[in-house]
Amino acid sequence: MTVGSLLAADLVIAVLAAAGWLGGGVASAARRRPLALGLAAFALLATLTRAVTITALARAGWWFAAEKVLIAAPLSLAAVLVAGARLLRRPGDIRSAAVPKLFAGYALSGALLVTLLHGYPASAGAGLLAVAGIVAATAVTWRVLGARPSRTVSRGAVAVAVAALVTGTGLAVTPGTVPAAAHDHEYRETRPVGEPTRRFTLTAGTTTVNVSGRDVAAWAFDGQVPGPELTATVGDVLEVTLRNRDIGRGVTLHWHGYDVPNGQDGVPGVTQAAVLPGQEFVYRFRADQVGTYWYHTHAVFDVGVRMGLYGVLVVRPAPVSGVDVTVPVHTLAGLPLPAPRTEPVRAGTPVRLRLINTDSTTHRYALAGTPFRVAAIDGSDLAGPTPLTDTAVLIPAGGRYDLVFTAPAAPVALLVDGRAVWSTGPLAAATGDWPVLDPLSYGTAEPTPWARFDRDYTLVLDRGLDLRRLLPRYAHTVNGAAEPDIPPQVVRPGDTVRFTIVNRSLVVHPWHLHGHHVLVLSRNGQPATGSPLWLDSFDVRPGDVWEVAFRADNPGMWANHCHNLPHAEAGMVLHLMYS
Ligand code: C2O
Ligand code: CU
Repeated sequence: MTVGSLLAADLVIAVLAAAGWLGGGVASAARRRPLALGLAAFALLATLTRAVTITALARAGWWFAAEKVLIAAPLSLAAVLVAGARLLRRPGDIRSAAVPKLFAGYALSGALLVTLLHGYPASAGAGLLAVAGIVAATAVTWRVLGARPSRTVSRGAVAVAVAALVTGTGLAVTPGTVPAAAHDHEYRETRPVGEPTRRFTLTAGTTTVNVSGRDVAAWAFDGQVPGPELTATVGDVLEVTLRNRDIGRGVTLHWHGYDVPNGQDGVPGVTQAAVLPGQEFVYRFRADQVGTYWYHTHAVFDVGVRMGLYGVLVVRPAPVSGVDVTVPVHTLAGLPLPAPRTEPVRAGTPVRLRLINTDSTTHRYALAGTPFRVAAIDGSDLAGPTPLTDTAVLIPAGGRYDLVFTAPAAPVALLVDGRAVWSTGPLAAATGDWPVLDPLSYGTAEPTPWARFDRDYTLVLDRGLDLRRLLPRYAHTVNGAAEPDIPPQVVRPGDTVRFTIVNRSLVVHPWHLHGHHVLVLSRNGQPATGSPLWLDSFDVRPGDVWEVAFRADNPGMWANHCHNLPHAEAGMVLHLMYS
């Protein structure tokens, strides 16, 4: 069983246990004896089963189980002792069993709320608030059912609830590490990069575009989705003028995966101010990395990118021979882009397909009709890629794969999630059951460039209630906090930095660090054994633990976030900062 499914199973069992005790308590109060006993027995079994799932999670990593071991386990034990003991006693009036069972139900619900609303790291504050709630609910139930606890018991209960509430609230509002003010800095690049050799102007505006016969509202660069394809030859100096015609909430250009100087990175509020209607901003940087990249707005980017403010950036080594195709995949108003295209290619011609995922979720790509190699991932060439046949690749949000092959005489087709998007001729292929390539074991290994690390950071991804804003929200969190309260990762120039990313949530988080490529060291304890993988976008699936490292060689203030953009907008953004 994977840790991801273990997390899901544990959650389901926790819900069933809490519901079982609550149901059993209500049935007892209603004097429905068989139902009450059945539900209680079921709840007892479910509660005991959690000992297994919690132990397994703790063995997979403390991050997955902390609050379950420290808060849910003691509360479950109390529930079992109180309600279980009552079950074993000689049946008197079944109604007298209602309070112990309801207490057990409150205890398990309280623990469940701690997991759902607070998560990682476990805190004494959350535990105490749960205790206060459980004691208060039990006392009220006792009163309502007329079971009359003695004066001392009810006074004691009130005292415990109040003490837990006060202490818990106090602990919960104690400020943690307050991040340095990341948001008033504007890093301006002063280093001259030379005379521009490639000049582009992109004008952002609202428009209507036609997608497979339907007119849809879009936000676009130069009126087209995707925006114009920007191409350069390595060594060129790119100068891109961004104009905003009428995007009211502003627009910027972020060069996704391109390690530009910080002032050119296009993050509003961090590296520049958003470009408002009527304004412009000029980006200038040297194209010194070859490969497949893309650009997109970073201002209100969940809406902006989804509505179409993105395009392709390709930097080629020199004039290329053969066929070189970019396939930026996107979903616009629910419709898939690009439109299918057929392009006959003479047999023997070298072909490079540059696959780009500009959506917020993973896509599955399958190339049918030819063996192929994965020549590059996220713009970096792989070492010793071997030929693959009938194998699919999964590209995370923001990620790029370059597939290369020599055109055969018979047709070849590229399918995205089963839909043909590019082909050299008619080809019907069923690719749904193909195995998926694991890039961590593909290609030839090379020695890791670093043996020790100057900095180590751990990012635990989860969900939680964020009460630090005007409107509370159910945020996507990192180490229990949401933007802008996540402490930055601070590094010194020249440091080698390792960070561990742990996903204890139930959804995939495609991770993306700006300004640097990270080298994958391991996933779930298994070292990467294939070609060195220098990534800027990688899927951290539920239950995954990734270890990645990079050299701090690009000073500035850099966004480090989930590239499922709704998650980023819901708090999952922190910053990497140079001291
Ligand atoms: Cu492609 Cu911060 O983003
Ligand atoms: Cu995410």
